[in-house]
Amino acid sequence: MNQDYSQHHKQGYISQSVESFIESLSREIHSIYLLAEQGESFRMDNLWKLSGKLIHHMRTDPRIIGTALFSDNDKYSVVSHSFNTAILAAYMGLYVLRDVLQLNLLVMTACIHDIGMVQIPDDILFKQTLLSNHEIKVIRRHPVIGNRLIYEAGAFANLPIKKMLGEIILQEHERDGGTGYPFQITAEQIHLLSTLLGICDTYETLTHARPWRQKMHPTVALREISRLSREYFPADYVNTFIQTLTYFPIGTIVKLNDGRIGEVIAVNSNDPQHPKIHIVDDDPQTTDIIDLHLNPNYNINQIIISE
Ligand SMILES: [Fe+2]
Ligand SMILES: [Fe+2]
Repeated sequence: MNQDYSQHHKQGYISQSVESFIESLSREIHSIYLLAEQGESFRMDNLWKLSGKLIHHMRTDPRIIGTALFSDNDKYSVVSHSFNTAILAAYMGLYVLRDVLQLNLLVMTACIHDIGMVQIPDDILFKQTLLSNHEIKVIRRHPVIGNRLIYEAGAFANLPIKKMLGEIILQEHERDGGTGYPFQITAEQIHLLSTLLGICDTYETLTHARPWRQKMHPTVALREISRLSREYFPADYVNTFIQTLTYFPIGTIVKLNDGRIGEVIAVNSNDPQHPKIHIVDDDPQTTDIIDLHLNPNYNINQIIISE
Protein backbone atom coordinates (compact mmCIF):
# COMPACT_ATOMS: atom_id res chain seq x y z
CA MET A 1 0.00 0.00 0.00
CA ASN A 2 1.43 3.39 -0.97
CA GLN A 3 2.48 5.77 1.77
CA ASP A 4 1.10 8.86 0.11
CA TYR A 5 0.05 11.00 3.02
CA SER A 6 2.49 13.76 2.13
CA GLN A 7 0.93 14.23 -1.30
CA HIS A 8 -2.31 15.90 -0.30
CA HIS A 9 -1.19 19.40 0.45
CA LYS A 10 1.45 20.13 -2.14
CA GLN A 11 -0.90 22.38 -4.03
CA GLY A 12 -1.32 25.56 -2.08
CA TYR A 13 0.22 27.60 0.69
CA ILE A 14 -1.54 25.75 3.41
CA SER A 15 -1.10 26.91 7.03
CA GLN A 16 1.33 25.00 9.23
CA SER A 17 -1.30 23.81 11.70
CA VAL A 18 -3.66 22.58 8.98
CA GLU A 19 -0.75 20.95 7.18
CA SER A 20 0.29 18.95 10.23
CA PHE A 21 -3.33 18.05 10.94
CA ILE A 22 -3.82 16.80 7.37
CA GLU A 23 -0.69 14.71 7.67
CA SER A 24 -1.86 13.11 10.92
CA LEU A 25 -5.28 12.34 9.42
CA SER A 26 -3.67 10.78 6.34
CA ARG A 27 -1.34 8.72 8.53
CA GLU A 28 -4.24 7.48 10.62
CA ILE A 29 -6.26 6.42 7.56
CA HIS A 30 -3.19 4.78 6.09
CA SER A 31 -2.38 2.83 9.25
CA ILE A 32 -5.96 1.54 9.56
CA TYR A 33 -5.97 0.34 5.94
CA LEU A 34 -2.57 -1.26 6.44
CA LEU A 35 -3.62 -3.16 9.57
CA ALA A 36 -6.79 -4.32 7.83
CA GLU A 37 -4.76 -5.44 4.82
CA GLN A 38 -2.49 -7.47 7.11
CA GLY A 39 -5.52 -9.11 8.69
CA GLU A 40 -4.96 -7.44 12.04
CA SER A 41 -7.43 -5.61 14.24
CA PHE A 42 -7.46 -1.82 14.27
CA ARG A 43 -8.82 0.87 16.57
CA MET A 44 -11.13 3.61 15.34
CA ASP A 45 -11.35 5.90 18.40
CA ASN A 46 -8.56 8.20 17.22
CA LEU A 47 -10.13 8.44 13.77
CA TRP A 48 -13.36 9.57 15.40
CA LYS A 49 -11.49 12.42 17.10
CA LEU A 50 -9.62 13.37 13.93
CA SER A 51 -12.90 13.44 11.99
CA GLY A 52 -14.23 15.99 14.47
CA LYS A 53 -11.08 18.05 14.03
CA LEU A 54 -11.41 17.96 10.25
CA ILE A 55 -14.94 19.36 10.58
CA HIS A 56 -13.59 22.12 12.83
CA HIS A 57 -10.84 23.01 10.34
CA MET A 58 -13.31 22.94 7.45
CA ARG A 59 -15.68 25.22 9.32
CA THR A 60 -12.82 27.65 10.00
CA ASP A 61 -11.36 27.63 6.48
CA PRO A 62 -13.44 25.89 3.79
CA ARG A 63 -10.65 26.42 1.30
CA ILE A 64 -9.22 23.14 2.64
CA ILE A 65 -11.49 21.66 -0.02
CA GLY A 66 -8.69 22.56 -2.46
CA THR A 67 -6.57 19.72 -1.05
CA ALA A 68 -9.12 17.22 -2.32
CA LEU A 69 -10.04 18.90 -5.59
CA PHE A 70 -6.68 19.96 -6.90
CA SER A 71 -4.33 17.36 -5.49
CA ASP A 72 -1.39 16.85 -7.85
CA ASN A 73 -1.07 13.23 -6.83
CA ASP A 74 -2.27 11.45 -9.97
CA LYS A 75 -1.50 7.95 -8.76
CA TYR A 76 -4.58 6.10 -7.60
CA SER A 77 -4.49 4.72 -4.10
CA VAL A 78 -7.40 3.71 -1.94
CA VAL A 79 -5.97 5.73 0.98
CA SER A 80 -5.68 8.91 -1.05
CA HIS A 81 -9.20 8.37 -2.46
CA SER A 82 -10.58 7.86 1.05
CA PHE A 83 -8.84 10.97 2.36
CA ASN A 84 -10.19 13.11 -0.50
CA THR A 85 -13.68 11.67 -0.04
CA ALA A 86 -13.51 12.60 3.66
CA ILE A 87 -12.58 16.19 2.79
CA LEU A 88 -15.53 16.40 0.38
CA ALA A 89 -17.82 14.80 2.98
CA ALA A 90 -16.79 17.35 5.62
CA TYR A 91 -17.39 20.17 3.16
CA MET A 92 -20.80 18.93 2.02
CA GLY A 93 -21.86 17.69 5.46
CA LEU A 94 -21.52 21.16 6.96
CA TYR A 95 -24.18 22.35 4.50
CA VAL A 96 -26.69 19.55 4.82
CA LEU A 97 -26.41 18.01 8.29
CA ARG A 98 -27.49 19.79 11.46
CA ASP A 99 -26.71 16.95 13.85
CA VAL A 100 -23.06 17.06 14.99
CA LEU A 101 -22.96 13.32 15.61
CA GLN A 102 -24.24 12.55 12.11
CA LEU A 103 -21.69 14.92 10.64
CA ASN A 104 -18.85 13.27 12.53
CA LEU A 105 -20.13 9.86 11.51
CA LEU A 106 -20.30 10.84 7.83
CA VAL A 107 -16.69 12.09 7.84
CA MET A 108 -15.35 9.11 9.74
CA THR A 109 -17.14 6.69 7.45
CA ALA A 110 -15.72 8.49 4.41
CA CYS A 111 -12.19 8.03 5.82
CA ILE A 112 -12.46 4.24 5.76
CA HIS A 113 -15.41 3.63 3.42
CA ASP A 114 -13.36 1.47 1.01
CA ILE A 115 -11.65 -0.61 3.66
CA GLY A 116 -13.06 -3.74 1.99
CA MET A 117 -10.76 -3.01 -0.97
CA VAL A 118 -7.81 -4.34 1.06
CA GLN A 119 -9.01 -7.85 0.22
CA ILE A 120 -9.39 -7.17 -3.52
CA PRO A 121 -6.32 -8.40 -5.46
CA ASP A 122 -4.01 -5.60 -6.68
CA ASP A 123 -4.01 -6.95 -10.24
CA ILE A 124 -7.74 -6.13 -10.41
CA LEU A 125 -7.53 -2.88 -8.41
CA PHE A 126 -4.71 -1.43 -10.50
CA LYS A 127 -5.57 -3.00 -13.84
CA GLN A 128 -4.68 -0.63 -16.68
CA THR A 129 -7.51 -1.71 -18.97
CA LEU A 130 -11.27 -2.07 -18.56
CA LEU A 131 -12.38 -4.72 -16.12
CA SER A 132 -14.07 -7.97 -17.19
CA ASN A 133 -17.51 -8.82 -15.83
CA HIS A 134 -15.94 -11.27 -13.41
CA GLU A 135 -13.47 -8.64 -12.15
CA ILE A 136 -16.30 -6.15 -11.67
CA LYS A 137 -18.11 -8.76 -9.58
CA VAL A 138 -14.99 -9.23 -7.44
CA ILE A 139 -14.61 -5.48 -6.85
CA ARG A 140 -18.28 -5.21 -5.95
CA ARG A 141 -17.70 -7.42 -2.94
CA HIS A 142 -15.85 -4.62 -1.16
CA PRO A 143 -18.83 -3.08 0.74
CA VAL A 144 -19.69 -6.49 2.23
CA ILE A 145 -16.04 -7.16 3.07
CA GLY A 146 -15.75 -3.66 4.56
CA ASN A 147 -18.84 -4.18 6.67
CA ARG A 148 -17.40 -7.44 7.99
CA LEU A 149 -13.99 -5.90 8.73
CA ILE A 150 -15.63 -3.11 10.72
CA TYR A 151 -17.61 -5.60 12.82
CA GLU A 152 -14.85 -8.17 13.29
CA ALA A 153 -11.57 -6.23 13.30
CA GLY A 154 -12.46 -2.62 14.05
CA ALA A 155 -12.31 -1.87 17.76
CA PHE A 156 -14.29 1.21 18.78
CA ALA A 157 -15.49 2.22 22.22
CA ASN A 158 -18.75 3.66 20.88
CA LEU A 159 -20.65 0.52 19.84
CA PRO A 160 -23.84 2.17 18.45
CA ILE A 161 -21.66 4.37 16.21
CA LYS A 162 -19.64 1.35 15.14
CA LYS A 163 -22.83 -0.46 14.12
CA MET A 164 -24.00 2.50 12.04
CA LEU A 165 -20.57 2.84 10.48
CA GLY A 166 -20.76 -0.75 9.23
CA GLU A 167 -24.27 -0.22 7.82
CA ILE A 168 -23.33 2.97 5.99
CA ILE A 169 -20.30 1.27 4.44
CA LEU A 170 -22.47 -1.66 3.37
CA GLN A 171 -24.81 0.70 1.48
CA GLU A 172 -22.28 3.16 0.05
CA HIS A 173 -22.77 1.86 -3.51
CA GLU A 174 -26.55 1.45 -3.41
CA ARG A 175 -28.27 3.89 -5.76
CA ASP A 176 -31.71 5.49 -5.85
CA GLY A 177 -33.20 3.52 -8.72
CA GLY A 178 -32.09 0.15 -7.32
CA THR A 179 -29.15 0.00 -9.75
CA GLY A 180 -26.43 -0.12 -7.09
CA TYR A 181 -24.94 -3.00 -5.14
CA PRO A 182 -24.76 -5.31 -3.24
CA PHE A 183 -28.53 -5.56 -2.57
CA GLN A 184 -30.09 -3.24 -5.20
CA ILE A 185 -32.16 -1.51 -2.53
CA THR A 186 -33.94 1.70 -3.54
CA ALA A 187 -34.03 5.34 -2.43
CA GLU A 188 -36.11 5.18 0.74
CA GLN A 189 -34.19 2.14 2.05
CA ILE A 190 -30.76 3.73 1.66
CA HIS A 191 -29.25 5.40 4.72
CA LEU A 192 -28.98 9.17 4.22
CA LEU A 193 -25.28 9.11 5.11
CA SER A 194 -24.66 6.39 2.51
CA THR A 195 -26.32 8.62 -0.07
CA LEU A 196 -24.17 11.62 0.88
CA LEU A 197 -21.09 9.43 0.95
CA GLY A 198 -22.01 8.05 -2.49
CA ILE A 199 -22.17 11.56 -3.97
CA CYS A 200 -18.76 12.55 -2.51
CA ASP A 201 -17.24 9.20 -3.50
CA THR A 202 -18.47 9.51 -7.09
CA TYR A 203 -17.25 13.08 -7.42
CA GLU A 204 -13.82 12.18 -6.01
CA THR A 205 -13.58 9.30 -8.46
CA LEU A 206 -14.45 11.51 -11.44
CA THR A 207 -11.96 14.23 -10.49
CA HIS A 208 -9.01 11.91 -9.99
CA ALA A 209 -7.16 9.66 -12.39
CA ARG A 210 -7.66 5.93 -12.40
CA PRO A 211 -5.28 3.38 -13.95
CA TRP A 212 -7.45 3.21 -17.09
CA ARG A 213 -8.50 6.86 -17.51
CA GLN A 214 -7.51 10.47 -16.90
CA LYS A 215 -9.07 12.74 -14.31
CA MET A 216 -11.94 15.07 -15.16
CA HIS A 217 -11.70 18.80 -14.45
CA PRO A 218 -13.72 19.61 -11.28
CA THR A 219 -16.14 21.80 -13.23
CA VAL A 220 -16.74 19.17 -15.92
CA ALA A 221 -17.22 16.56 -13.19
CA LEU A 222 -19.98 18.70 -11.64
CA ARG A 223 -21.89 18.51 -14.90
CA GLU A 224 -21.41 14.75 -14.95
CA ILE A 225 -22.63 14.29 -11.39
CA SER A 226 -25.63 16.46 -12.19
CA ARG A 227 -26.45 14.10 -15.07
CA LEU A 228 -25.99 11.04 -12.84
CA SER A 229 -28.36 12.46 -10.24
CA ARG A 230 -31.33 11.73 -12.48
CA GLU A 231 -30.86 8.03 -11.93
CA TYR A 232 -28.55 7.53 -8.98
CA PHE A 233 -28.89 10.25 -6.37
CA PRO A 234 -31.62 12.51 -4.94
CA ALA A 235 -31.57 15.75 -6.97
CA ASP A 236 -31.82 18.05 -3.93
CA TYR A 237 -28.61 16.75 -2.33
CA VAL A 238 -26.76 16.77 -5.63
CA ASN A 239 -27.89 20.35 -6.25
CA THR A 240 -26.62 21.39 -2.82
CA PHE A 241 -23.33 19.67 -3.52
CA ILE A 242 -22.96 21.45 -6.86
CA GLN A 243 -23.96 24.85 -5.51
CA THR A 244 -21.59 24.72 -2.57
CA LEU A 245 -18.66 23.53 -4.67
CA THR A 246 -19.13 25.97 -7.49
CA TYR A 247 -19.43 28.90 -5.17
CA PHE A 248 -16.07 30.56 -4.61
CA PRO A 249 -16.49 32.80 -1.56
CA ILE A 250 -15.41 36.43 -1.85
CA GLY A 251 -11.80 36.70 -0.77
CA THR A 252 -10.82 33.28 -2.14
CA ILE A 253 -7.41 33.42 -3.79
CA VAL A 254 -7.43 31.50 -7.06
CA LYS A 255 -5.13 30.62 -9.93
CA LEU A 256 -6.52 31.05 -13.44
CA ASN A 257 -5.83 28.78 -16.38
CA ASP A 258 -3.34 31.34 -17.75
CA GLY A 259 -1.33 31.10 -14.51
CA ARG A 260 -2.34 34.46 -13.06
CA ILE A 261 -3.29 34.70 -9.38
CA GLY A 262 -6.34 36.69 -8.33
CA GLU A 263 -8.86 37.26 -5.59
CA VAL A 264 -12.60 36.67 -5.91
CA ILE A 265 -14.23 40.08 -5.44
CA ALA A 266 -17.81 39.35 -6.59
CA VAL A 267 -19.91 36.29 -7.38
CA ASN A 268 -22.29 36.18 -10.35
CA SER A 269 -25.34 34.68 -8.71
CA ASN A 270 -26.60 33.24 -12.00
CA ASP A 271 -23.17 31.75 -12.75
CA PRO A 272 -21.35 31.07 -9.46
CA GLN A 273 -18.59 29.06 -11.14
CA HIS A 274 -17.41 32.23 -12.89
CA PRO A 275 -16.95 35.07 -10.40
CA LYS A 276 -15.20 38.43 -10.88
CA ILE A 277 -11.49 38.22 -10.15
CA HIS A 278 -9.10 40.98 -9.14
CA ILE A 279 -5.69 40.02 -10.53
CA VAL A 280 -3.09 40.45 -7.82
CA ASP A 281 0.00 38.53 -8.86
CA ASP A 282 2.20 41.03 -10.74
CA ASP A 283 1.60 44.26 -8.93
CA PRO A 284 -0.45 44.56 -5.74
CA GLN A 285 -1.68 47.95 -6.94
CA THR A 286 -3.04 46.58 -10.21
CA THR A 287 -6.65 47.32 -10.99
CA ASP A 288 -7.06 44.48 -13.51
CA ILE A 289 -10.42 42.80 -13.02
CA ILE A 290 -11.67 39.85 -15.07
CA ASP A 291 -15.31 38.88 -15.05
CA LEU A 292 -15.08 35.16 -15.80
CA HIS A 293 -18.76 35.13 -16.74
CA LEU A 294 -18.01 37.48 -19.62
CA ASN A 295 -14.66 35.89 -20.53
CA PRO A 296 -15.26 32.21 -21.30
CA ASN A 297 -11.60 31.69 -22.23
CA TYR A 298 -10.61 32.01 -18.58
CA ASN A 299 -11.29 29.50 -15.82
CA ILE A 300 -10.35 28.93 -12.21
CA ASN A 301 -7.81 26.14 -12.16
CA GLN A 302 -6.90 26.08 -8.51
CA ILE A 303 -7.80 27.50 -5.12
CA ILE A 304 -4.76 28.87 -3.30
CA ILE A 305 -4.92 28.10 0.40
CA SER A 306 -3.05 30.47 2.68
CA GLU A 307 -2.83 31.43 6.34
FE1 LIG B 1 -16.47 1.89 -2.60
FE1 LIG C 1 -14.82 4.89 -2.72
